Amino acid sequence: MTEAPPVVPGRVAVIMDGNGRWARERGKPRVEGHRVGAESVRVVTRTCARWGVEVLTLYAFSLENFRRPKKEVDFLMKLLARFLVKERREIMDNGIRFRVIGRREMLPPRVRGLIARLEEMSAANEGMKLVLALAYGGRAEIADAARAIAERAAKGEIEPGEVDESLLEDHLYDPDVREVDLLIRTAGEMRVSNFLLWQISYAEFHVSPVCWPEFREEKLKAAFLDFAGRKRKFGGLLPEEEGK
Ligand code: FPP
Repeated sequence: MTEAPPVVPGRVAVIMDGNGRWARERGKPRVEGHRVGAESVRVVTRTCARWGVEVLTLYAFSLENFRRPKKEVDFLMKLLARFLVKERREIMDNGIRFRVIGRREMLPPRVRGLIARLEEMSAANEGMKLVLALAYGGRAEIADAARAIAERAAKGEIEPGEVDESLLEDHLYDPDVREVDLLIRTAGEMRVSNFLLWQISYAEFHVSPVCWPEFREEKLKAAFLDFAGRKRKFGGLLPEEEGK
C-alpha cells in the first residue's frame, strides 16, 4: 500500500483518458481498456478516500461520448451497471457518499435505477464524496443552471438582480464539486474537453502521460506531489511578493 503524500488536495477531478490507446498498444479491443480502466476507478477511489480527499469527481461519460459506436456505448453502460452493484459494499464500508452529475435522463433506465439506489443508500455517509460525471457536459451544466434560475425568476421566487456567481453555483448539478483544487488528466492530452468548466477556474492542472488503465496509487501520489509544489495565487499575489 502506497503511503499517503504529505499534502492532499481537498477537491480532485479526473479526466480518465487513454483506455482505447492502452488497449490498442496491446493488440486488444478498445473495450478491454475500459474494463481495466474500471479497475483504476476502484483503486483511485479507495486511495483518495484513504488519503483524505473530500470530493473526487470522475469524468466517466461525456455527452459527446454518445456519438461513439453503439456497441462501445452499450459496453460502457454495462460496465457502469456492474460497477454500481459490485462497488456498493466498498462504498458503504468506506463511508463514501456517492452522487452522479449530468443529464441522467439520457442514461438507460436500469443504470438510472442503480444510481438512485446507491445515492440513496450512501446519502448519510460522512466520508469522501465520489461524484461520477455521466452524460455530462460543462456547457450543458451551466445552461441547465441558467434555465433553472430563469424558471425561478419567472415564478417570482428570485429577482434578476439577485443573480450572481454564488447563486449560479448553487444551481449547478452538485454544489459540493465547487472550486476544484487539482484537475488530473491522463494519456498526455492538454485539453479540458468540456469538463467542469465553471469549477476549474483556479484548479491546478496535472497531465500524466500514463493511460488511465495504468493510473494507480503511485501515479496518483505523483500528481499530489506535483500539486504540493504549486504556488496558488488565485489571481492575487503571494505573501512574499506583496510590497515589492
Ligand atoms: C476515455 O478513454 C475513457 C472513457 C470515454 C470512459 C471512461 C470509462 C472508464 C474509466 C471505465 C468505466 C467507468 C466506471 C465508472 C465503471 P478513451 O476511450 O477516450 O481512450 P482513447 O482516447 O485512447 O481512445
